[in-house]
Amino acid sequence: MAFLLCLGLLLADLVTPFVGAASPKSWSSMPNRCAAGSNCVVPAEEHWLLDWSPPELASLTIRGKLEWDRGIDDLQLTAGYVLVEGKGTLEIGTESQPMSNLATINLTDAQASPHPTLGSRFLAGQDKAQILMHGRPLGTWTLLARDVAQGESEMELKEDPRALSWRIGDVIGIATTNRGRTQPYKIVDLGPAGSKTVKIDPPAAADYWGGWRPIHHASGRSSSPIKCRLYVN
Ligand SMILES: *[C@@H]1O[C@H](CO)[C@@H](O)[C@H](O)[C@H]1NC(C)=O
Repeated sequence: MAFLLCLGLLLADLVTPFVGAASPKSWSSMPNRCAAGSNCVVPAEEHWLLDWSPPELASLTIRGKLEWDRGIDDLQLTAGYVLVEGKGTLEIGTESQPMSNLATINLTDAQASPHPTLGSRFLAGQDKAQILMHGRPLGTWTLLARDVAQGESEMELKEDPRALSWRIGDVIGIATTNRGRTQPYKIVDLGPAGSKTVKIDPPAAADYWGGWRPIHHASGRSSSPIKCRLYVN
């Protein structure tokens, strides 16, 4: 049963007209296609590659396929709104080939006439549209390997930040040891490979506990205090 289902999907893939191997058209080499301020359309059955930052558009409607170029860092798509409709697809990375560069969609509310039902500033899909976004696999948290004192800008982690896919420019939070607000810190440097250190900016706004910490507890009758260690933060 499961096998038949897979076969069905495979056949469906083979007969889908434009999702096949045909290489996408580079949007940057057809710059007259969508002028600044226009209502730009990726027509059904067309497959475009977003390989530049297009001029600021009033709106972008995707009825074919728009594939974000995974190989280029820091591209920006700026439009009043982005609508994917019909059998359209917006693809920013796939599960097997995630997008590891920075991609920005900037919705400006700049178009003259809002969409009749969806409004004036949105990224939306309707009908059988697909919006696919897969970013780099990321370790989202780890532990501090030692205390960080207020004012320090280097901290030692329990794990290698590179193995977590952390990068310079990423923003992290450090959970508070005492009551207080968790504030964002930007990673401005990673220590040498294998060092498990990161440099943050601004410097630590408070003291944070990290690593192993002995806890002494003397109970009433017991002659020897109980000792234990706690990995904090
Ligand atoms: C988004 O686009 C608007 C209009 O061009 C611009 O003013 C704004 O700075 C852009 N925002 C970002 C985060 O790039």
